[in-house]
Amino acid sequence: MRRSLDSAAGGSAREDIQRAAEILKKGGIVAFPTETVYGLGADAFSPKAVARLFEVKKRPSFDPIIVHVSSILEAHTLWKEIPAVAQRLMKKFWPGALTLVLPKSDRVHDIVTAGLPTVGVRMPSHPMALALLESFGKPIAAPSANLFGYTSPTSAQAVREDLGDQVDFILDGGPSTVGVESTVLKIEDEQTGSILRPGGILSEELKPFLNARPRKRFEAAPRKGVESPGLFESHYAPRTPLALIDIPLEEWLDRLERIKPLPRIGLLSLKPRAQNHLFQETLYLSQTGDLREAASNLFQAMRRLDKMNLDLIIAEAVPEEGIGIAIMDRLKKASGGRPFIL
Ligand code: TXA
Ligand code: MG
Repeated sequence: MRRSLDSAAGGSAREDIQRAAEILKKGGIVAFPTETVYGLGADAFSPKAVARLFEVKKRPSFDPIIVHVSSILEAHTLWKEIPAVAQRLMKKFWPGALTLVLPKSDRVHDIVTAGLPTVGVRMPSHPMALALLESFGKPIAAPSANLFGYTSPTSAQAVREDLGDQVDFILDGGPSTVGVESTVLKIEDEQTGSILRPGGILSEELKPFLNARPRKRFEAAPRKGVESPGLFESHYAPRTPLALIDIPLEEWLDRLERIKPLPRIGLLSLKPRAQNHLFQETLYLSQTGDLREAASNLFQAMRRLDKMNLDLIIAEAVPEEGIGIAIMDRLKKASGGRPFIL
């Protein structure tokens, strides 16, 4: 369901969108809400404006950027050819959390795709994102509005804290409802796709359309030939070390109890848990253990714990089903992909 513009951000939303569009037209960069996470946008056809995205995010130049559009028709201008399966996927899932990767047209500059012959495109569903795209009138290149490798922002406040005055304007559209990024799907042929990043659209939802295989992760950041840096082992990470625990917490607590002095630890659990003296803070992602709700709270909770001056964040594993696959992908990467042994 689409929220109306004014309920998304108060009565001044329209003026703010106009202002943001003007800034984009002048080659500036603007953070804006999407239903997945906040994006940091620039004119997709201006290499100079796109270069600023890399600079502000401290993003390595080999990491390609997703281009956002306001219609399926606009996506057509960015790709060389559009297989029938891509048409069907766009009709079904757009606007929404699905990025499609296909060979790029000549209109897309190399800086956007980091030299790759393909470009990832998506149409977001957040009413403010759509209004901005329509007001600007051209595609917007936008990575998530965080420093490279750090936890993604799901609120305007999180963007402000990360990027502050380096951004020309921040559009506030309230908290992102999905909470994890879009699913990045590379279309290989009419029958096959590779999921380069699990996200808001589930692999079981893609099944009726094509055989979508998860892509194996890299062991470490390779120097070249990176197909999708979202596959890196370390990403989305808070500054506080994060350990992902996939054994029952009780077992782990017994071992923790023996450590002296006790480190300052924050616990991130799926469901509410009784307070335990071993933890400085306990945050839960959902009152009922609902995975959709957990996804929408994930990055905000990680950021909250990261501000508490802890020695360690412990995250409990969530079931790897449905959107739990995307949550676990983010938690594994936030933990640096290393198993945690106490
Ligand atoms: O939900 C989202 O996708 C958010 C919002 C703002 O739309 N955007 C986002 O962008 O997460 P970013 O830059 O943080 O992540 C984009 C991911 C990266 O892992 C990048 O490597 C991958 O998509 N990607 C982009 N273009 C690609 C391409 N042509 N081939 C392979 N991977 C690509
Ligand atoms: Mg990102």
